[in-house]
Amino acid sequence: MLPLIDRSFTCASVKYMSNARSNTFPKGFTWGTATAAHQVEGGNWNNDWWDWEHRPNTVCKEPSGDTCDHYNLFPQDIEMLAKLGFDNYRFSVEWSRIEPEDGEFSQAELNHYRAVIDACRANNITPVVTLHHFTTPRWVAAMGGWTNDSTADLFARFSEKAAKSIGQDVGKWCTINEPNMVATIGYLLGEFPPGTKSRDARRKANDVFCRAHEKSRDAVKSVSNAPLGITLAMQEYTINIEDESHRGAAEALRNQAWDGLEDCFLEVAKGDDYFGVQTYTRERFDQNGRIKPGEDMRKTIMGYEFRPQALEACIRRAWDKTGNVPIIVTENGIATSDDNERIEYVHGALEGVLTCIADGIDIRGYTYWSLMDNFEWTYGYGPTFGLVACDWKTQKRTPRPSAHWLGNIAKSNTLAPRPA
Ligand code: BGC
Repeated sequence: MLPLIDRSFTCASVKYMSNARSNTFPKGFTWGTATAAHQVEGGNWNNDWWDWEHRPNTVCKEPSGDTCDHYNLFPQDIEMLAKLGFDNYRFSVEWSRIEPEDGEFSQAELNHYRAVIDACRANNITPVVTLHHFTTPRWVAAMGGWTNDSTADLFARFSEKAAKSIGQDVGKWCTINEPNMVATIGYLLGEFPPGTKSRDARRKANDVFCRAHEKSRDAVKSVSNAPLGITLAMQEYTINIEDESHRGAAEALRNQAWDGLEDCFLEVAKGDDYFGVQTYTRERFDQNGRIKPGEDMRKTIMGYEFRPQALEACIRRAWDKTGNVPIIVTENGIATSDDNERIEYVHGALEGVLTCIADGIDIRGYTYWSLMDNFEWTYGYGPTFGLVACDWKTQKRTPRPSAHWLGNIAKSNTLAPRPA
């Protein structure tokens, strides 16, 4: 046997041993796509987002309406996902449907999600269930939402009820999707509900979300053995200075961003079964703070820098900061009108995943956001993230070439070259 070339290096707390990179993913690596209830189901009128979309003077482009009618069309959507070659489906259950008023649980809605899980299992798809993906019942919002300590307890009560009623065949749990986005965009920037603009409110919301994750984790774990984690919106943050003397200031601002957006969640995830990394782009910092992507830079429909390499950087940070909790990429994707560009993006991101795996990082799966074009929050229906196009008038689904390309990678568990 040839000796391995030791390219080991130390990055923060962990020592990586670099092996030659293979194009094949580890045995048992999972391949999925993700959606969220409010973005695909339609008619979720009983949560804070529906209220927000219909208010004048918000930055929302349009209301969500029926969106993809996935509430009714889930059987065919899950069958389509399986036929494409994927083995798991990450979706969220809508708290405001299951608990429309304080302490009143709807058996009919629990049965609905039970049917979604059954449809996954019938198609050999592992259901990955998110308990909170951005939307909060109106009655919880009216009680102070995520700056009220008792919301963590209410969320734990809901989590336990959901896990008890529908948990038997759940493959994995995600307690909260990107709490950092709700806290920052909703409580600091005022662009998501509740539209607050306050540093203190953001800090408090981060804290309540962390407690909610811990309490929900305990509640779910008391009734289900399925692996559980939290997911975080992460971005690659790089320093971009012309004069070395500005490095200290730029790094301080970058660290401040990490502190407000990521660090408490990476800390609270220690001891979870997995950590969900969700990455779309990078942001650059100079001595004055964030720099917008330059005019000459390649950008996505969201206005983000086209940066597939960001995923690798975020995986490394999550692995280090959580003290080596196994990673699942629970979201990664691109809004583009050019499907070749989608393939290029995912191919680049997966190369980074393989490099991390060669370096000894335990990565267990990749999930593309999103299965189909859907309601992109304040941006409305403009950004097309889907592997599958959705005609919202006829509800016709049309898989794009990228859906077949990624589905085939899923089937072979090997990164194929990009089509010429
Ligand atoms: C969210 C999704 C969103 C996606 C694309 C993530 O931040 O979890 O709900 O649609 O990014 O912007």
